[in-house]
Amino acid sequence: MTKRIALRGDLLDFTAEPDWGVTESPAVRFRPDHWLLIEDGRIAAVQAEAPGDDWPREDHAGRLILPGFIDTHVHSPQLDVIGSYGSELLDWLNTYTFPAERRYADPELAASGAALFLAALLAHGTTAAVVFPTVHKVSADALFAGAAERGMRLIAGKVLMDRHAPDGLRDDVVQAEADCRELIARWHGRDRLAYAVTVRFAPTSTPAQLAMAGRLCAEDPTLYLQTHVAENRDEVRWVRELFPEARSYLDVYARAGLLHARSVLAHGIWLDDADRAALRESGAQIAHSPSSNLFLGSGLFDWRAAEAAGAAVTLASDVGGGTSLSMLRTMADAYKVQAMAHQRLTAWKALHASTRGAAQALSLGHEIGSLEPGHAADLCVWDWAAGPVAQQRMAVARGLHEKVFAWLTLGDERCLVTSIVNGAVRYQR
Ligand code: GUN
Ligand code: ZN
Repeated sequence: MTKRIALRGDLLDFTAEPDWGVTESPAVRFRPDHWLLIEDGRIAAVQAEAPGDDWPREDHAGRLILPGFIDTHVHSPQLDVIGSYGSELLDWLNTYTFPAERRYADPELAASGAALFLAALLAHGTTAAVVFPTVHKVSADALFAGAAERGMRLIAGKVLMDRHAPDGLRDDVVQAEADCRELIARWHGRDRLAYAVTVRFAPTSTPAQLAMAGRLCAEDPTLYLQTHVAENRDEVRWVRELFPEARSYLDVYARAGLLHARSVLAHGIWLDDADRAALRESGAQIAHSPSSNLFLGSGLFDWRAAEAAGAAVTLASDVGGGTSLSMLRTMADAYKVQAMAHQRLTAWKALHASTRGAAQALSLGHEIGSLEPGHAADLCVWDWAAGPVAQQRMAVARGLHEKVFAWLTLGDERCLVTSIVNGAVRYQR
């Protein structure tokens, strides 16, 4: 039996990449008061007229319908340390993050933590994500199993770290390789899941482990690679000491065969022109994490310079360095970071990077990120405003960009009505 549902609302997505500074962009596709038809988990059609009686209807007239957000960098176990006071990256890892992640060796805790995390993503309007669990194989298993249960598009992998981490959080090259291979066989390409070779960051992997990660990537080009790069100045100095032979922090990864079209590199604040050229040539993307960069005092990422050099930039919460799973909060922070460099991020640039842009950078543009017939029905229904201040602002907003920009600046998960994943309602307010 086919499963059908038709949603009515104001449909907003993108057909191309919007340009910097352009608030009236031909890349924006706004279809007010339209119907989106979902059949067997896929978008079947988008139309102005109401569908026939053989379509069960959900009337969200006056609400916004967007593709589900894609968070390209987030740590599932770090809900336990979100909003931790008082330190920069390396201190923050040792003081808060590593102790919290150690607990994920316990399969029960890994399962309940994954369930909490995935439900929280959906309750913030994020339907797809690129995720770090912990070093423990069981934490990756729990995350993949939870995502499969919910029909989610999820990219993840067991964290690799064989040095400079406390007891209970280190692996070794041989065991790590065996664990990766087992997880890849079990999860990569199953349902909507994909495996990412997950190097935490250069300081916590020996050269031998980086080489092993590079071999895995070379063996199967459909695997993703996720890591952190050039986030914090003390971290960059440390990498220079640990890898004196490398030209730069990014070059450590390039030399190990970890820089390719499916590489997702968080942060990239402290890169130079040669690094940006290497990003362009490899097709790797930067997962810009403005909330985390502000909270940990890491620095201000120059989005425009990265893009001018041809590097792909997507948006990420980086919870628990970031302080919210909401991509609205993330976009609002991204605007403020760019404002500090006298650049202005349009609502269109921000939204595109969180939907279609991220999908394309992940080679998933055929499946997610747009309200396109044939795509998976991963989408969210949003109120335009939550509370009297936002309601008043919406009432006086003129033009679509002004309205959408005010929405993402003032809004958060309180605006979310419904999250639909693969055609199924997975969150309902
Ligand atoms: N660098 C290495 N590990 C981490 C982490 O967990 N969070 C952030 N923000 N940076 C990192
Ligand atoms: Zn991170």
